[in-house]
Amino acid sequence: MHSLHFLFALCSFVSAAHLSQSSFDDIIQHVGEPVGSEHVHDGVTMYISPASRPNDSKTAVLYLTDAFGLPLLQNKLLADSFARAGFTTIMPDIFRGDPAPHDIYFDADEFLAKHTTNVTDPVIETTISYMRNTLRFDRIAVTGYCFGGRYAFRFLRKGRGADIGFAAHPSFLQDSEVLAINGPASIAAAEIDTLFEPARRFEVEGMLNQTAHPYQVTLYSGTFHGFGTRGNISIPEQKFGKEEAFFQAVRWFKAWQ
Ligand SMILES: *[C@@H]1O[C@H](CO)[C@@H](O)[C@H](O)[C@H]1NC(C)=O
Ligand SMILES: *[C@@H]1O[C@H](CO)[C@@H](O)[C@H](O)[C@H]1NC(C)=O
Ligand SMILES: *[C@@H]1O[C@H](CO)[C@@H](O)[C@H](O)[C@H]1NC(C)=O
Ligand SMILES: *[C@@H]1O[C@H](CO)[C@@H](O)[C@H](O)[C@H]1NC(C)=O
Repeated sequence: MHSLHFLFALCSFVSAAHLSQSSFDDIIQHVGEPVGSEHVHDGVTMYISPASRPNDSKTAVLYLTDAFGLPLLQNKLLADSFARAGFTTIMPDIFRGDPAPHDIYFDADEFLAKHTTNVTDPVIETTISYMRNTLRFDRIAVTGYCFGGRYAFRFLRKGRGADIGFAAHPSFLQDSEVLAINGPASIAAAEIDTLFEPARRFEVEGMLNQTAHPYQVTLYSGTFHGFGTRGNISIPEQKFGKEEAFFQAVRWFKAWQ
């Protein structure tokens, strides 16, 4: 009797564990063809990955990329992963056709001088307006990576359009942008990141603590700047960090949507 119970308990434990692992793997995918498509709305190119049941959630994800933008396959695959997690995901071309070239040397100073906040903000404003007024989503969860991480915070400010935010390894994040948030904010940080050093992370934690909003700051060992999108998935710690940072965002959005 006891052993039968034990066996039953063990079987259900094993199958539950198996199920949840495979459902995680079904949601986040690192290889393959993107399933979303590009559209132009109000002069802004957007990669759109619809949730399989778009009407299930009134919340959509606004995905703000790293400097490599829409051409980077991992960005599209991660946007698709958010869609599989239940959120229609909109990824605007925040560089207006002029992203950083991937994997070759580029002049970061020149790139940043071209892509200032006064140039980038209007693209995001147009996207938010499209998400709310045309697609009719009630709430916007913003996820941002590196360059885009800063903008996740900028648009979490009151009246700027986002309701919940997540940023992986944000770069150039300003104090005023952290202090002005008007909704829950979550950060995934890399162990090695010259653009978000430990001392800066602690400062940001202290500022988040001064806001009245829920916050989370999680550090992933064995990771480098960029791991949330470009982590090397053949290295177990980086694969875990990339996947866990993704599920950190999904859990955050579901908890506070
Ligand atoms: C979602 O809702 C809209 C408007 O109510 C409707 O037109 C559309 O067909 C619905 N989509 C699905 C997939 O049910
Ligand atoms: C953006 O601001 C910079 C300086 O802050 C200025 O030189 C530039 O002309 C501005 N660009 C636009 C499009 O307003
Ligand atoms: C947050 O604020 C509380 C109350 O002022 C303080 O006790 C705590 O040490 C702060 N924590 C961080 C991480 O800044
Ligand atoms: C990823 O890591 C593997 C194993 O260390 C290595 O062979 C490969 O070159 C790395 N890929 C990239 C793009 O760095």
